[in-house]
Formats: sequence, structure tokens, C-alpha cells
Amino acid sequence: MLIAGNWKLNCNLKEAIQLSSSIFDILNKKKVLSEVALFPPVIYIDSIKKMNKNSNISIGAQDCSKNVSGAHTGEVSATMLLDIGCKYVIVGHSERRNGNHESNQDIFLKAKSVIDNKMIPIICVGESLKDREAGNALQFIESQLKESIPINNNNNEFIIAYEPIWAIGSGKTATPKIVTQVHIMIRKILNDIGFDGENVSILYGGSVNRNNAKELISLDEVDGFLIGGASLDAKHFFDIYNFVEESV
Ligand code: PGA
Repeated sequence: MLIAGNWKLNCNLKEAIQLSSSIFDILNKKKVLSEVALFPPVIYIDSIKKMNKNSNISIGAQDCSKNVSGAHTGEVSATMLLDIGCKYVIVGHSERRNGNHESNQDIFLKAKSVIDNKMIPIICVGESLKDREAGNALQFIESQLKESIPINNNNNEFIIAYEPIWAIGSGKTATPKIVTQVHIMIRKILNDIGFDGENVSILYGGSVNRNNAKELISLDEVDGFLIGGASLDAKHFFDIYNFVEESV
């Protein structure tokens, strides 16, 4: 089980240090059964990582460049993220797909770069409300999976996060029925394209909070959460973590 906190474009340095210290203080005293990973803004990763040298809490980045190096102003490469101690990189979050016009091909290149650098990409997929209402959700996710996941002969690890766009930051969580149906379909597609779907972790993300986490994590098909808003409050994050730990 993985509990991932995606801080997005939030916190100044002082707040980022306070938030991560609160989380480290609570979790470092415990024997953690599931894995906790924090995804602060990239500029704070190094400071947070240094504060947390001996902990079992992992650190990741919210995105990376699809390019390896060169004339790409403002970009941060997967190699640079590895250098500062990242274990995971989120790629293809809908806020980047939509807000930054990233295509499946871009996500493919990013995920490949992450894998080439021996880190684990968390590849996000998920449909818009329009696609869901039109009955196209599964088809849409299928093409995202087929076009975004690098086929790697070494069977390197990757994680999928199902994040329906209409559930992100909206307070509307996908129902257990939807989550189960989509996660089963994702495993089937993974099998179809040559992976062992049963052995790929699939996270759910989209308005996960302390009120719905217990029910969602009880679903057989859910291997953890990608949490946005609720990860910015250490107490809320810890409550969600506790529900996940109870389910392990
Ligand atoms: P949310 O965000 O929990 O605030 O809905 C989830 C995400 O975007 O990863």
C-alpha cells in the first residue's frame, strides 16, 4: 500500500518544513506497514530530504521533463530528481495534461526517463466528466494507458493512479463501484499489453479524505491513494494513513 501526498503548488519553505516535520514526527515513531511518500514542490525536495535522512518516508517529484538535457529553460530532468533523492515521480497528472497541454506521448517520454533513471513513475490516468457522462470513460482511460506506459523489457516497476478529473479537488469522490470497475479494467489492459496486471499497484486519487478513506481502501482493487488537498494537513493525512494501515 502506498499513501502519496501531492502538495501541488502549495506551501512556502517554512510551511513545507513544518508540514513535513509534523508528518515525520508522527510516522518515524511508528513501525509503518504501508509506504508513505511526499511530493512537495520541487524546489523544497532537497531541504525536506535532508531533514529526513534516516526515515522510511519516501520523497518524490510532481513532474519531470520529457527531455534528458539541453536547451529546455525551466525544466527539471529525471536525472536531477534522482540526484536529490527522489524515489518516485508523478507523470501525467490531469492538471499537467490539461493545464500544460501534455499529450500521452509526452507522458510516455517522461515515464521512460523516470524508469531509465531507476525511479518509479506514478502514471496518472482518468476521464473528464464529459467523457464519463458520454459513456466513454473506459475507452478514454484505455488509450491513455496504451499510449503513456513505456513497454520496458526489464519489467521495471511503475504505478498507475486512477484519478477521475471530476473528482480532483471537487469534494466528489468516485463511488466504490466506479473505482472497482476502472481498476479491474486497468489490470486487464495491463495484461493485454504485456504486463502482469495483478502485480502493478493501482492508486485511487480524487477528493480522498478522512471520511471516505476507510471505505475506499477496503476495496480489493485499491492499492493506496494519491492525495492532494488532505495531504496539506498533517492530522488529516495521518487519519487517512491510519485507515490504510488498519487495512494492511
Ligand atoms: P485532491 O487531489 O485529493 O485534492 O482531489 C488529488 C490529486 O490531484 O492528486
